[in-house]
Amino acid sequence: MNFPIRVSPSILSADFGNLAAEALQAEQGGGHELHIDIMDGHYCHNFSFGIGVVPALKKTIKIPLIAHLEIDNPDMFIDDFARAGSDMIVVQEDTCLHLPHTISSIRDKGVRAGIGVNPDRGYEKLRANPEILEEIDLLIVLAVYPGFGGQPFSPITIPKIREACSLREEHGARFDIGVDGCVGAETIPDIVKAGANYLIAGSSVFNGKDIKNNISALRELAERSL
Ligand code: DX5
Ligand code: ZN
Repeated sequence: MNFPIRVSPSILSADFGNLAAEALQAEQGGGHELHIDIMDGHYCHNFSFGIGVVPALKKTIKIPLIAHLEIDNPDMFIDDFARAGSDMIVVQEDTCLHLPHTISSIRDKGVRAGIGVNPDRGYEKLRANPEILEEIDLLIVLAVYPGFGGQPFSPITIPKIREACSLREEHGARFDIGVDGCVGAETIPDIVKAGANYLIAGSSVFNGKDIKNNISALRELAERSL
């Protein structure tokens, strides 16, 4: 099965004072979906955006908006993020007491579902509940611990991407395999060769001057690395 390369800009590294305009440039530059990290100051040591950022960006942005819930008790907020207009809700597997229930409740709202896995975590919950593999659209292998842009790449990410590919194949599932954290020119060749196709990129998209060019350069590098 063919999984096309996707670049999903993460607005955590955008200029918050100019958020809609930078998000629009990310869309115009070919960003596949816009990645919005939601942080609660508890699950990770930072705050980012509240629920209101989703409808605010919907006024300007046409590509799907992905709410990456880097929060404790995500079950409490699924309804809110769905109503706000999120096109996909990604939960961190270690925040869900009963992951199958959380995934079903996202899908019951008519929203696509994704799962994030931290560097020090494996796929035990997915192996124990393989029905989930049919129900998610995206599995994110985090290459950093949630909280901040610009952190270093955890090398364990590469074997974990390969393992995610095997898991998908074993079960005949069709979800994209994403990497979130330190996705950029240095890491993309190895990430893509290992089998990930969905590249979530913050600093490497927004920290340079030209957001549109940054996205095309990342996508071209990824496609050349296949
Ligand atoms: C980390 C977030 C990432 C973050 C990545 O908490 O989940 O989406 O924006 O930033 P970079 O690409 O700068 O590592
Ligand atoms: Zn994220």
